Amino acid sequence: MKSEMSRIVLGTDWMIAVPNLASWNIVPTKRADAILNGAVEMGINSFDTARIYRSEGVVGRFVRKHPLGRGAFRIISKGGHPSLFWRTPLTRGKLLRQLDDSLRALGTDYIDVYLLHYDDPKVPAQAIAEWSVELLRSGKVHNIGYSNVSLARLKEFRAYLREANVSPWVSNEFNALPVKDGERWKGAQNISRDGTYVDYLREDGLPFLAYSPLGRGGLKKYIDHRLAERKLEDERRISRLISLGQKYSVPLSVIALNYILQTAPNFHAVVGTSRLDHLKENMRALTFQMSEGDRNGLAFSSCSY
Ligand SMILES: NC(=O)c1ccc[n+]([C@@H]2O[C@H](COP(=O)([O-])OP(=O)(O)OC[C@H]3O[C@@H](n4cnc5c(N)ncnc54)[C@H](OP(=O)(O)O)[C@@H]3O)[C@@H](O)[C@H]2O)c1
Repeated sequence: MKSEMSRIVLGTDWMIAVPNLASWNIVPTKRADAILNGAVEMGINSFDTARIYRSEGVVGRFVRKHPLGRGAFRIISKGGHPSLFWRTPLTRGKLLRQLDDSLRALGTDYIDVYLLHYDDPKVPAQAIAEWSVELLRSGKVHNIGYSNVSLARLKEFRAYLREANVSPWVSNEFNALPVKDGERWKGAQNISRDGTYVDYLREDGLPFLAYSPLGRGGLKKYIDHRLAERKLEDERRISRLISLGQKYSVPLSVIALNYILQTAPNFHAVVGTSRLDHLKENMRALTFQMSEGDRNGLAFSSCSY
């Protein structure tokens, strides 16, 4: 499975399905369709969606209609996102219900990689691991995994999953950019500066989906608009990114993505873009390679590589 998922995965959280009032069908915007088609032409076979994104309808419709057929694509979806307005605990029933809702929205009978969108640390790890195995056994998902999960909890999940001979996928934020301290959303995991976590994923070869690899577009924002706000460490990081871009004559997005892809062969970058020219630019990260020294120079100081 690892080798079947493209190293660059297309993020779809912006592809919100628009209801067509004439037919009461959900239709993708033209732009979403253009990006999905362009992505496939450029060699991307994998799409990242989630119950909460409301893009499952768009992705599912695209895959169903595509002449290559369902088997040519890898769909990642996620359930169990905490409620946006009030905190209800994660339960088995909620997860099973959301999975069925996702399958219906996607119009498919299986999901390639199904992730728990956010961990709920109040629920014992054993229970979540057991639900994960139950999902796998149902055949409705081919792989399970965890997004926004701490390293301690991931280790706990793995201890229970090992008994069932199951290896999980993992998805957290990871990028080479200056990151603001603190959580972006409550419970979100940004492991960019957490060398112990990154080393653990590398050494154990767990398939890892790095989301927001361009800092949600923050790379350009930092360079263009935030000059006054930056700390000295951020200044050095941005200068290094700029000089690497100049040295290799590639856009900064290519440096940022290559940093992730070069971290380990089991690392994938989940990129969001609504522009074909940006997507084309991003794909250059697959064929371009920084020297090992340059790549390691971008790693945060806690990382051992
Ligand atoms: N598991 C989770 O909890 C979680 C959380 C967040 C995101 N995600 C997934 O990760 C995907 C990507 O994350 P993201 O959207 O937060 O961050 P991202 O991919 O780091 O950044 C997306 C932004 O970068 C811009 N961009 C893309 N390529 C560019 C290029 N070559 N040059 C300049 N700008 C470029 C895009 O603008 P344009 O549209 O103009 O290209 C967009 O504004 C999401 O779509 C979602 O599927 C998962």
